[in-house]
Amino acid sequence: MTERILQDIHDEIFRLDDWGTPAQYIPELACIPPRQFAISVCLANGDCLNAGASDRPFSIQSVSKVFSLAATLGRFGDQLWSRVGREPSGTSFDSVVLLERENGRPRNPFVNAGAIVTTDVLLAGRQPKQALAEVLGLIRAMAETDDIHINDKVATSERLTGARNKALAHYLQSHGNLQNEPDLTLGTYFHQCAIEMTTRQLALAGRSLARLRAGPNVISPRHARRINALMMTCGHYDGSGEFAYQVGLPGKSGVGGGILVIAPRVASIAIWSPGLNLYGNSHAGTRAAAMLAQTTCWSVF
Ligand code: DON
Repeated sequence: MTERILQDIHDEIFRLDDWGTPAQYIPELACIPPRQFAISVCLANGDCLNAGASDRPFSIQSVSKVFSLAATLGRFGDQLWSRVGREPSGTSFDSVVLLERENGRPRNPFVNAGAIVTTDVLLAGRQPKQALAEVLGLIRAMAETDDIHINDKVATSERLTGARNKALAHYLQSHGNLQNEPDLTLGTYFHQCAIEMTTRQLALAGRSLARLRAGPNVISPRHARRINALMMTCGHYDGSGEFAYQVGLPGKSGVGGGILVIAPRVASIAIWSPGLNLYGNSHAGTRAAAMLAQTTCWSVF
């Protein structure tokens, strides 16, 4: 694995005609120019390789769900699973369809409804500030840097326009699956989604999930294995099967255009390009992940 390989992928991506469309429902993200790309790879020997805008912070959005899940499992263990399932949904990330059919128990912790419940669990007995400090603290420990912050403008932008998430939270509440006031849990959730990281930082944070020799072991091996399984089956929503087919590695996407991909024991990979495909996953980022998997033959299969 060399930086040349990443540079070739970068150059190939810049030959694309279609870069997808940035998330339109969050005004702060809607205006970001789509023709941008970054990729970072951390290896078992401690090397971290980069290409493109790997020092530009972007909104990690749903990639944060990996970290809030890790924090929740770390603190509350298996308690979460009485309130959230572990099955792929086959529906979009913000869908309400299954919630009604399944009595307000979200399919998995990565669809929005499941992530809102996860944040609600993490809030038990604590103020939003403390719960957010815990998620941010975990990310900073995983990435071994304090220079990771929440963008309040993005959180506010989503709070003002997030009618769909409000509907989900109130629907969860009507089924007794929300312990805090919807606005409190949502406010915490929107701030968690508004964390900004560079691909360099995100790849560093992923080392613990990949269980790389050179990285810090912040997440227990048991939780890392389970989070990887959920990333593989549910990390790209209704695009998870296609991502598994094209890339063959656990991955978690966000509408900010970021993707965290884990090659267990081999590499932690972070990719960013803000234009999205029909599933709300990075268009160029997904292409780049497939190219990297093909070139390196990294796969869990
Ligand atoms: O709740 C939302 O809609 C956003 N804050 C996060 C959604 C997201 O990133 C979906 N991922 N592709």
